[in-house]
Amino acid sequence: MQENPFKFGQVVDGPYFITRKEEIKQVTALLNSANNLVMISPRRYGKTSLIEHVVNNLNRPYIKVDLQLVTSPEDLAAQIIKRLSRLFPLEKIKQALNSFQIVPEINLNPLNNEIDLSFDPASSPKPIIEDAINLIEQLSTPQKRMIAVFDEFQEIRRIEKDLDRQLHALMQHHQQVNYVFLGSQESLIRDIFENKKSPFFQFGQLMPLQKIPTLDFFDFLSDRFKPITPEYNRIATSILEISRCHSYYAQQLAFFVYEQLRDPQQPADPVSETVSELIRIHDMHYERLWKTLNTTDMKILIGMSLSELSPLSEAFSHTFHAGATSTIFSSLKRLAENGFIQKSETGYEIDDPFFKRWITQRRNR
Ligand SMILES: Nc1ncnc2c1ncn2[C@@H]1O[C@H](COP(=O)(O)OP(=O)(O)OP(=O)(O)O)[C@@H](O)[C@H]1O
Ligand SMILES: [Mg+2]
Repeated sequence: MQENPFKFGQVVDGPYFITRKEEIKQVTALLNSANNLVMISPRRYGKTSLIEHVVNNLNRPYIKVDLQLVTSPEDLAAQIIKRLSRLFPLEKIKQALNSFQIVPEINLNPLNNEIDLSFDPASSPKPIIEDAINLIEQLSTPQKRMIAVFDEFQEIRRIEKDLDRQLHALMQHHQQVNYVFLGSQESLIRDIFENKKSPFFQFGQLMPLQKIPTLDFFDFLSDRFKPITPEYNRIATSILEISRCHSYYAQQLAFFVYEQLRDPQQPADPVSETVSELIRIHDMHYERLWKTLNTTDMKILIGMSLSELSPLSEAFSHTFHAGATSTIFSSLKRLAENGFIQKSETGYEIDDPFFKRWITQRRNR
């Protein structure tokens, strides 16, 4: 049987990847220069996939650390070193670690042949971070310059106060590394790189990543549906309409519609059937999410699900009893920070199209 041609929830490349021609050109040019890159987009637009696609073609050493899962400066140092150790012979890494100001204990995990590091908990984190960050530069060469990606970089401020200052003080001297900072919380990332008082002020070229152009997404979908249904154009259009061209949700919906179409007893309208199914699957998760909201947030999401009105318009506030513009504004800010909504070129929209439909269904039930 033909393999399902859609993939969601993991980094995509090869046949699953829609070429973002312009962005690939920009990122490649930047990484081939002496500059650093800051890429912002809402969750799951395709930052990691794009960066990895470019890096794979450049054939240069590459590490990526997701700061969301980092718990302390020492942990950050350990994560960096662990990733570096995957790129170089263990002896080389051990040698480097032996010259650290605070020499970590190294254990080789026999299951995956990876190293685990631990630092004496009594030691100060400063020299540990210093040596780990400088190791990135040290292991780079002019021919094989390292690319170091920090995902969800806005988390740096959570990990420890002034850690950003310390990182910047080190990174600014590195000549053989391109740093890439990714982030999904636009306002925080902008504050880190655009606020004059921030240590990382103008440290990298800021690049907001937009959605994949509708026409490119349409071609990708219709090409893949063509072999299994004569309705391939209608199905592609409808998937993009429902997902609003959001990379992840469009691929997810396409995946399950494809599965429906493979079924000999395929439903009359496979797209609607799949949407209902996805809402059912996520029901408990959505209910849990809903309970985390305060009343204003609920009103805003209900209003945004039931109407096309701008949440900042008078009509919106009036229709949904959402209160003063300032109240609505702070709610929008909170909802955006928590990933419920996002600001697009056309205004605010609910991130998850199935959550939006879940709200509508519940309201109309
Ligand atoms: N260029 C692309 N072509 C096709 N699908 C894509 C593309 N980029 C992203 N996607 C889809 O979106 C999903 C998320 O992509 P990716 O993990 O690269 O995004 P991200 O912005 O790094 O997400 P996160 O916010 O979770 O870090 C992928 O699993 C895939 O389904
Ligand atoms: Mg990512």
